[in-house]
This record gives sequence, structure tokens and C-alpha cells, in this order.
Amino acid sequence: MQTSTIAIIGAGNMGTSLLGGLIANQFPASQLWITDPDSEKLHVLEQQFNIQTALHNNDAVNAADVIILAVKPQMIANVMKEIAISVQTKKTLVISVAAGIRIDALQNGLGNSIPIVRCMPNTPALIRAGVTAMYANSLVTDKQRDLAESILRAVGMVVWLEDEKLMDAVTALSGSGPAYFFLMIEALQHAGETLGLPRETARLLTLQTALGAARMAFETDVEANELCRRVTSKGGTTEAALRVLENGQLRDLFLDALKAAKARSEELAELFGKEVK
Ligand SMILES: NC(=O)c1ccc[n+]([C@@H]2O[C@H](COP(=O)([O-])OP(=O)(O)OC[C@H]3O[C@@H](n4cnc5c(N)ncnc54)[C@H](OP(=O)(O)O)[C@@H]3O)[C@@H](O)[C@H]2O)c1
Repeated sequence: MQTSTIAIIGAGNMGTSLLGGLIANQFPASQLWITDPDSEKLHVLEQQFNIQTALHNNDAVNAADVIILAVKPQMIANVMKEIAISVQTKKTLVISVAAGIRIDALQNGLGNSIPIVRCMPNTPALIRAGVTAMYANSLVTDKQRDLAESILRAVGMVVWLEDEKLMDAVTALSGSGPAYFFLMIEALQHAGETLGLPRETARLLTLQTALGAARMAFETDVEANELCRRVTSKGGTTEAALRVLENGQLRDLFLDALKAAKARSEELAELFGKEVK
């Protein structure tokens, strides 16, 4: 990664998070570019990180070996029009984090001979605790795969997909997933308050329980259902609560929720695909 020059297109939430993550991982600032229409924002980033910035995307793209598309999906078509010639000349590796923009749409916009990695990160990437699913087209070399992976690792964990179709399921699970957990946190906290706990106490108990449970599940090979069984004594409090959740069809609700998110992800990808053609 040390020898590559990276251009991040779009200095928004994801672009600046990647930038911060790369700098924190000792990536040389002099080999990092970021672009945005907002010159004030660029000035601040330049001062903060000592990186290179550009108002015009091609100024950064011409200098880079790797381009990260970090603009909103609606802006991708315009950006691709702008940078396609430069990318085609250099056969630059392009990494897209735009939700719902498929590889064929990216190839339509950039050219069929471009190595492209499509990524689906999630919001905790903003605090470098994200998880990103990645899919590479057939032109991406092993070295480029490693490079793309090391870039996305700067904001969290990475998994590779061998079938791009699975990206809609990823969007439904980890892409939208933080919202499911925020909803559960809110619901549990509210329930705790309703049972008489002070607001701040309910908040702390909820958050640390969520964090602790996630860490326990992470740090052992034991399956979640077994962990659940181990904290559920016969005739005890947890069993009483779980019975209510199971009777309320919680599992079916999650399945229906993910199916709805996946279907919407497919619809949006179709829509964005048409915009690029
Ligand atoms: N944020 C997340 O948690 C998350 C999670 C998964 C995937 N993503 C993906 O990441 C991408 C970026 O999302 P975001 O949340 O970072 O959006 P964002 O905060 O709106 O950032 C996009 C940035 O790109 C700038 N921009 C607009 N047009 C541009 C152009 N032609 N050239 C260069 N820069 C341009 C925008 O400037 P203006 O504001 O002036 O338009 C903005 O600063 C999206 O495609 C999204 O699907 C984000």
C-alpha cells in the first residue's frame, strides 16, 4: 500500500472516515488526495492532515493509482463521466463505496477494461468499527485485491463476496443493520425506564450490555444460541423474557425486515443502473 497514491472522490462522511483511517494507519499523507466541491472543507482537511486536495476530480485522479468513489449514489454517474478518460488511460484501480451501484453500472460508466472493487461499508466505519463486504470484477489482480482490502481495513473489518448478487443481502444485514441495533437499544432503554430506572442508568445498562454481549459472542467459538442457552436457567428471569420474545415471533420479524431491505436494495440498484446507462 505504501507505494500507491490514493484519490478519494468526495469529502463527506465516508470519504473523510477513510482518509482519517488511512492516516491513522500510517499511510503517507503526501500520497493521499481528496476532492470535493466545497473548498472550505478541503482547506480544513489540508490543514489537519497535510494531504493534497482538489476541487476538480481529474486533478486528483490524474495523480492516483487508486481511486475511491465516495460520493452519493446519485452523483456517481456525473463523476464517472468526468473521470472516465483519465481512468481508461491509466487503467486505474477503482474502489466504489456507493450503496446500490453495481459493477456493471460502474463498468458502463468507466469502461469494461477497468479493475473495479465494489464495497458495502456500514456507518460504524465512521468510528473505524465498520464491516465492509467487497466484491471484485475479474480484472482486479491479487495485489489490487490486497490493496483494496488494506484500504477498507482502515475503517473496520472486511469480508469478500464471490457473488455480487449477495451484496443486496449484505445491505440488508450489515448495511442497514446498525439501525436495527439502535432501535433495540432505544426499545430496551425505554423499557428499563418504564420499569422505574433513571434514564441515564437505563442507558448505561443497555449500552454496556449490548457491547458486552457482542464482545462475548466475538471472543468465543460458541454459537449465539448456545450462549443464549447458557444464560437461561430453567424457571429463571431470562427464560421468562425469552418466552415473550419468541411468542412475539421476533425471529420471523427479523427475517421479514431483512427481506424487505433486500428487496428495496435490489430496486434501488436497478434504478441507479438505469441512471448510469
Ligand atoms: N455514510 C455511511 O455510513 C455509508 C455507509 C455505506 C455506504 N456509504 C456510501 O458512501 C458514499 C458517500 O456517503 P456519505 O455518507 O459519505 O455522503 P456525503 O457525506 O454526502 O459525502 C459525499 C461528499 O461528496 C461530495 N460531492 C458531491 N458531488 C461531488 C463531485 N462531483 N465530486 C466530488 N465530490 C462530490 C459532497 O459534497 P456536497 O455535500 O457539497 O454535495 C459530499 O461532501 C455513498 O455512495 C454511500 O452510499 C455511506
